[in-house]
Amino acid sequence: MTNARSSVTVDLTREEFVSLRDVITGFCGIRLSDDYQARLQRVVSLRLVRCGVETVVDYLRILGGSLQEVGELLRLVEEVTNTETYFFREEFQLDALAEEILPELVERRESRRRLTLWSAGCSSGEEPFTLAMLMQRSPLWGRHLHRWESRVLGTDINRRMIRRAREGLYRASSFKGLAEDQRREIQGQFFRAVGDAFSVREAIRKHVSFLHLNLLDRDGAGLFGEMDVILCRNVLMYFPLKVRLRVIQGFFRKLAVGGYLLLGHSENLLGLETPFETVRVQESLVYRKPSRHRGPRRDDEWGR
Ligand SMILES: C[S@@+](CC[C@H](N)C(=O)[O-])C[C@H]1O[C@@H](n2cnc3c(N)ncnc32)[C@H](O)[C@@H]1O
Repeated sequence: MTNARSSVTVDLTREEFVSLRDVITGFCGIRLSDDYQARLQRVVSLRLVRCGVETVVDYLRILGGSLQEVGELLRLVEEVTNTETYFFREEFQLDALAEEILPELVERRESRRRLTLWSAGCSSGEEPFTLAMLMQRSPLWGRHLHRWESRVLGTDINRRMIRRAREGLYRASSFKGLAEDQRREIQGQFFRAVGDAFSVREAIRKHVSFLHLNLLDRDGAGLFGEMDVILCRNVLMYFPLKVRLRVIQGFFRKLAVGGYLLLGHSENLLGLETPFETVRVQESLVYRKPSRHRGPRRDDEWGR
């Protein structure tokens, strides 16, 4: 093997595309659409050079091998994931969370005084930081939450994104979802200007932590405790139904009874048989873990 070549262009056959796509789906759930073939060809051409191999067959062997497998798979996945995100994305749903769901949870959790939120597939961290800001902007903060243990966890399969999230330094594009006056207010309250970027203030950072995690890794979620709210937005839309079900089962097991699952506006649980209750909160449909589980009887998968 040699790294001497600086570039190579492979002609990805349909079979090779399908094989690579299946490896990616099996590893992280993402199913690349057929029109992704040209882009994957460019990505794989670069990866072949980096790995010092000449053919896609050799590259597939590396992906399937036991030692290098996860490292190279992660690198490949990092090249094909859509990591688009920004602060206060899908604000109508966040309003529902702040105005209806959080007050209900605070009332219910009064005795234990702890609230835990998980942004699953958090990319560069805008979503989990938004959740911490949302809590601190709520009237509940002054009345209750500032004395509670309130934690937000952000996880993602993309290590580059997790590194960025931990840095907590954001440029203008991360604020594109906010109207001008809102943006100024949020930046003034929660960020420190650093050149032309904005660094998240410690008052927010200290409530948020980040973890590299593949949602398909069944043991991974064992690293942290029960959650009151899980946001998994704009992630599951790239997964086939079967994989979506598996991930949703993981969320169900991880949620406290009465806890909520929030998906992206173009995602829902339609077509999946789950024990979740569907609840309309303002303009949003959200999912609640019921106190007594009904529904499918695959007890082990739903953690019953
Ligand atoms: C489009 S971004 C969504 C970010 C944020 N949730 C939002 O709505 O703004 C999707 C993220 O999901 C992550 N992702 C995809 N598959 C994943 C998996 N199997 N495990 C963990 N994260 C995954 C990607 O790396 C990417 O950062």
